[in-house]
Amino acid sequence: MNETRWDRLLLNANLATFAGDAPYGLVEHGAIALHHGRIAWVGRMDTLPDAPDALAAVVESLDGALVTPALVDCHTHLVFGGDRAHEFELRLNGASYEQIAHAGGGIASSVNATRAASEEQLFAQSLPRAQALLADGVTTLEIKSGYGLELETERRMLRVARRLGRELGISVRTSFLGLHALPPEFRDRRGDYVSLVCDAMLPALAAEGLVDAVDAFCEGIGFNREETRRVFERAKQLGLPVKLHAEQLSDQGGAALVAEYRGLSADHLEHLSEAGIEAMASAGTVAVLLPGAFYALRETKLPPVAALREQRVPIAIATDCNPGTSPLLSLRLAAGMACTLFRLTPEEALRGVTANAARALGLHDRGTLAAGQRADLVAWNVRQPAELCYWIGGGLARRVYVAGELVSRRKPSRRSPSAS
Ligand code: NIG
Ligand code: FE
Repeated sequence: MNETRWDRLLLNANLATFAGDAPYGLVEHGAIALHHGRIAWVGRMDTLPDAPDALAAVVESLDGALVTPALVDCHTHLVFGGDRAHEFELRLNGASYEQIAHAGGGIASSVNATRAASEEQLFAQSLPRAQALLADGVTTLEIKSGYGLELETERRMLRVARRLGRELGISVRTSFLGLHALPPEFRDRRGDYVSLVCDAMLPALAAEGLVDAVDAFCEGIGFNREETRRVFERAKQLGLPVKLHAEQLSDQGGAALVAEYRGLSADHLEHLSEAGIEAMASAGTVAVLLPGAFYALRETKLPPVAALREQRVPIAIATDCNPGTSPLLSLRLAAGMACTLFRLTPEEALRGVTANAARALGLHDRGTLAAGQRADLVAWNVRQPAELCYWIGGGLARRVYVAGELVSRRKPSRRSPSAS
């Protein structure tokens, strides 16, 4: 056998590369070669340098299936105990998210359930959620802490996040979200809690290698700018990148603050101001839009998509998978909702769950189909990229590859849903 042959060559694919100038970076009648976990070659089949069998050890035809970079979910709270279906019912009866939070529910109720769960229980409860995302094409996943609000439980959440990555063979990036809510035992002692987060919890968890980035909830019912700044300062000292839940329910000037720290992303952003957009544009901070939370809270104020576009702020889309405001287990559906609710084009939405989502995590080795990138990709049971936003539900991922290895496979459907 020729030693220089590629590990695997996929033929007859419609490649949405998100590289180059064509819409979706589309390469029709394409081929893609995977070698040692990386993409070795991408292009039109008729420009392959030799006969397929001479080029690769394994050659597969995809019969015209759409292939995209594997999806990147850059904002989730996927590890938590219990659920909040009861609050869903309360909200349908007229209670607001903020009212429920003030009455001791909301994030605090997930904190109780998460503190009560053992590491094994947390893992068992979180695993099916991560599996659902993976089955729908996600192979890189951000997971936040923030339902512990004390060292032991925050550590347990982050350890579970790391274990999910290991056991599912996907990439997990962790964010420490100690400033998610004020724990009940610190009522009237806000400053003490912020000090505990900055001086004890964050340095300890970072030293254990459990923290890839630092997040906070900058909001009327969360933490103010000065409190957020304190944790950002500590993150900076530790050499950790920052990101922020910003301008979700009101304009707190959070986007400008995270941009000041050259943050990876500002997330939610329904109430983002012009000044916030300008700050993000000059810092290169990604705007992460979360249509699942907008939908579940039945919000009406739209994020300023036109202005973000105009200022060329990169837009990413994520599930925000969490028990309170976004119990959403499909990133592809989030992309569809970004089109329907926020008026993104399908191309913007799909860049938002691939290339721009990778950027929101500070990852430059994935999110496009290009030689040298990680061979994380999905072959779908559709032919056209827009279909990924158009179909609502339906389990469309046919094959999911991580670093060139097949990790999830569904029966190929002979036809795309549109032909059936
Ligand atoms: O992203 N906004 C704060 N954090 C979550 C909600 C968490 C919860 O309600 O449990 C969010 O929407
Ligand atoms: Fe969130």
